[in-house]
Amino acid sequence: MAPAKTLDYIAQKNTLESSFIRDEISRPKVAYNQFSNEIPIISLAGIDDIGGRRVEICNQIAKACENWGIFQVVDHGVDQKLISEMTSFSKGFFDLPPEEKLQFDMSDGKKGGFVVSSVLPGEEMKDWRELMIYFSYPIRERDYSRWPNKPEGWKEVTEQYSENLMSLTCKLFEVLSEAMGLEKEALTKACVDMVQKIVVNYYPKCPQPDLTLGLKRHTDPGTITLVFQEQVGGLQVTRDDGETWITVPIVKGAFVVNIGDHGHYLSNGRFKKADHRAVVNSSYSRLSVATFQYPATDATVYPLKVREGEKSVMEEPLTFAEIFRRNMSNDLETARMKKMGK
Ligand code: SIN
Ligand code: FE2
Repeated sequence: MAPAKTLDYIAQKNTLESSFIRDEISRPKVAYNQFSNEIPIISLAGIDDIGGRRVEICNQIAKACENWGIFQVVDHGVDQKLISEMTSFSKGFFDLPPEEKLQFDMSDGKKGGFVVSSVLPGEEMKDWRELMIYFSYPIRERDYSRWPNKPEGWKEVTEQYSENLMSLTCKLFEVLSEAMGLEKEALTKACVDMVQKIVVNYYPKCPQPDLTLGLKRHTDPGTITLVFQEQVGGLQVTRDDGETWITVPIVKGAFVVNIGDHGHYLSNGRFKKADHRAVVNSSYSRLSVATFQYPATDATVYPLKVREGEKSVMEEPLTFAEIFRRNMSNDLETARMKKMGK
């Protein structure tokens, strides 16, 4: 029988298969550890001090969203022990032999599970990434049979992690609503029913990291995404010019907050959506845990506040399902090459 194709198996070869080799223009020129300290780091300490520190936090977040669409938060209230349990259990899972990981294979359309170098339908190129997907909110839609419990105890830790990240999201939604000049419940109401999806990304060491990407260029479709990067860097975002990539530093215990398409539209384009990707390296494997916050699929999406003198960035309201569909069919690299006449 042919060995199962997880990336660790593929990585034993010294050269990449052609399905991982990107066009010259998409290959990384900035390394995983060439960090830039420009992206704001915001402390959430005092977030409940209404009229005091909270105002300052709101202003810092508003500025970060306007300038970058991405920032890091510290003093966020999520227990560091829980975060490190989540990452060490995740590593334990990805270190299992292929046949054990593949028992959770999601390729048959199951609700959650293990995926190797996902490709969207119709796409040829593969990402240098294995992932574990959890559909964690609404709670009624959890299918615990798709939540591995190997290493033993991982299931409970994932459950706690999911709940803690939902609480943090609720806090951030309040502050983001206020930063838009709206009542604090505005974002939660716009989501109708808050949907959470947790994706644990594992990027094994790669023999030729300069030719490939761990995760191709994209924006996230949802409202916000909270990414925990464990020790090794690799997350990159573009600067304003849409051309220059910078590597997001590792800040111990911090969450990276990305604004997605939904957050961008709700703010009438005032908040940027983070244009990002992940690069890999040949020295270390890398783990990140991305918690995506979406509205309900049938939620109507439209700008919550159009400021005086501005036009709506949306011609008509759309369902979130349509926003999601458009995001998935939008290849940012191809669009960029077309713009440049290549
Ligand atoms: C993501 O964009 O979802 C993950 C990025 C990362 O691995 O840091
Ligand atoms: Fe992303």
